[in-house]
Amino acid sequence: MSNPLLKLTDVETYIGGSHILRGVDLEIHPGEVVALMGRNGVGKTTTLRSITGVLPVRAGSIMLAGQPIEQLPIDVRARAGLGYVPQGRDIFPHLTVEENLQIGLVVHGRKGAAARSALDRVFALFPVLKEMLSRKGGVLSGGQQQQLAIGRALLTDPKLLILDEPTEGIQPSIIDQIGDTLKKLKAPRAPQSALDQAARDVAEIKQAVQQLRREHSLAILLVEQFVDFCREVADRFYAMDRGAVVISGPIATLTDEVVKEHLQV
Ligand SMILES: Nc1ncnc2c1ncn2[C@@H]1O[C@H](COP(=O)(O)OP(=O)(O)OP(=O)(O)O)[C@@H](O)[C@H]1O
Ligand SMILES: [Mg+2]
Repeated sequence: MSNPLLKLTDVETYIGGSHILRGVDLEIHPGEVVALMGRNGVGKTTTLRSITGVLPVRAGSIMLAGQPIEQLPIDVRARAGLGYVPQGRDIFPHLTVEENLQIGLVVHGRKGAAARSALDRVFALFPVLKEMLSRKGGVLSGGQQQQLAIGRALLTDPKLLILDEPTEGIQPSIIDQIGDTLKKLKAPRAPQSALDQAARDVAEIKQAVQQLRREHSLAILLVEQFVDFCREVADRFYAMDRGAVVISGPIATLTDEVVKEHLQV
């Protein structure tokens, strides 16, 4: 087994006076896709914020490629290889798609040919972004905005891409109805209804995750409530409850019993 790319040991995080994370242990190996799951309010986002440095940890350690990062500021952790797409639509609605992407390039200091090849990689993953370069971010569908946010994070060339509920902007109430529809979707076509658009968006994000997974240099930590989505894209899962990991394992061990006990409301 390779050395972990990221390793959390006994991480304790407080928000104000509240003890939120109570000894979180988690690790991700190079090239792995790991799903972090759990009901609302159990500490998934807090875990991601602790990893990226948005929240300080009170105790425990966070190692990135063997180096402790838990005391480093956010921007230093980002340059060390963490690409973070927070929960919600993290794009600038009044800037164009192109301008939103430029921000990712500027953060990483890429110019000229390096910038163009990085952009080409993003367009290969998310062709819709290339078609919409001059559109304002705010007019994209929820899923397209999510693709833009992921694309921008990829332009910083992360070792670990951290996604907080990438399907959330995509009408969550209908995602679990989509199921098999996803598999039937082939080439992009004009959306016929909101359901079709949402299904296409989910399919495109799923394909992108699977494609990134095949490029073994990149690992992905994904917070996601939709079990089927996790089963299709993840290698392993962790489930949290009340600030700690309660069960983890290969994605094949995410059985319906486990879902019922730890994930269903
Ligand atoms: N700014 C805050 N002030 C006080 N408590 C907070 C704050 N942010 C989060 N919490 C609390 O911390 C706990 C964990 O929140 P967190 O956002 O990590 O949950 P989550 O698992 O990501 O949930 P969700 O699925 O709803 O996104 C919750 O009980 C929440 O109420
Ligand atoms: Mg959350």
